[in-house]
Amino acid sequence: TVEEMENRVREIKEKFGSRLYIPGHHYQKDEVVQFSDTTGDSLQLAQAAAENTAAEYIVFCGVHFMAETADMLTTDEQKVILPDMRAGCSMADMADIDQTERAWSELQALFGDTILPLTYVNSTAAIKAFVGKNGGATVTSSNAKKMVEWAFTVKERILFLPDQHLGRNTAFDIGVPLDKMAVWDPIANKLIYEGDVKEIVVILWKGHCSVHENFTVKNIEHIRKTEPDMNIIVHPECSREVVGLSDYAGSTKYIIDMINAAKPGTKWAIGTEMNLVQRIINEHPDKHIVSLNPFMCPCLTMNRIDLPHLLWTLEGIERGEVLNQITVDKEITEKAVLALNRMLENV
Ligand code: 13P
Ligand code: SF4
Repeated sequence: TVEEMENRVREIKEKFGSRLYIPGHHYQKDEVVQFSDTTGDSLQLAQAAAENTAAEYIVFCGVHFMAETADMLTTDEQKVILPDMRAGCSMADMADIDQTERAWSELQALFGDTILPLTYVNSTAAIKAFVGKNGGATVTSSNAKKMVEWAFTVKERILFLPDQHLGRNTAFDIGVPLDKMAVWDPIANKLIYEGDVKEIVVILWKGHCSVHENFTVKNIEHIRKTEPDMNIIVHPECSREVVGLSDYAGSTKYIIDMINAAKPGTKWAIGTEMNLVQRIINEHPDKHIVSLNPFMCPCLTMNRIDLPHLLWTLEGIERGEVLNQITVDKEITEKAVLALNRMLENV
């Protein structure tokens, strides 16, 4: 039963104490989050992994790229475990390293040595290594603005991987006009732009989040018409149009902080993943909160981490078996850590 499973998790956590560390992303299910030693957005979880030198086992409740990041930021002795190997991220999969190398040589031919690559942490370790090797950095949704500003102090152009929306929203936010942005299509292997190519300063990889694309201009128009006093807050993985029409946009931590600080009785429509929206609704009965898209939008891969998988990996640890360990190749780690550290040092 669920109760038996929960008791077993508690028992194993108690037995291992600080030797076992369970970080959980805000998009995880409640049945998992209740056992997290820390919850956070991508940046907080990366920082927590980098700072934790004591835990022998890090059971990462999130998706694959987060577990890879944790492995790269911890020591060789520390073992990072992902409770279900199928917990990937479709956005991270939208940029593979061969496509990126190909794009890079075409872009170098076009713009010379004027481009700095940046990658959203939602990317594979190989992409982070590519970025690190070429002088760039990782970014998360909570520091993207700072990192894009930093990038422009280094080079006159940026290549932003793999989320075109976070890239476009952030660049727009710091004043780059839309006609100075182009999109790199990795399937067609070409740059899509209007006007003079030499004017382009932001090159956006054509990737997106399949969860956040479900929040639409129509959803916003409907709320504005039916609930004009409702605040709309969205994650910057939503499109430029949606972010532009919303009242606020920011990382999962930003959304949580905003609702925590909101006055009782205020109304909110939130455009982000379902587990987080539902948790916020449950925690704030004094506020009127809904999902911006009335059909709640789950991240199917985040949801693959559940209580049975968590317990399965914990029982493995108890038996002395490390199941589903995430280990990133040493050479890739060395280069990717350059990109991660450039971010961690800047924020
Ligand atoms: P943040 O928690 O950094 O806002 O990221 C959201 C996300 O999509 C993680 O995959
Ligand atoms: Fe990836 Fe989107 Fe899921 Fe985040 S919400 S893990 S970006 S698919």
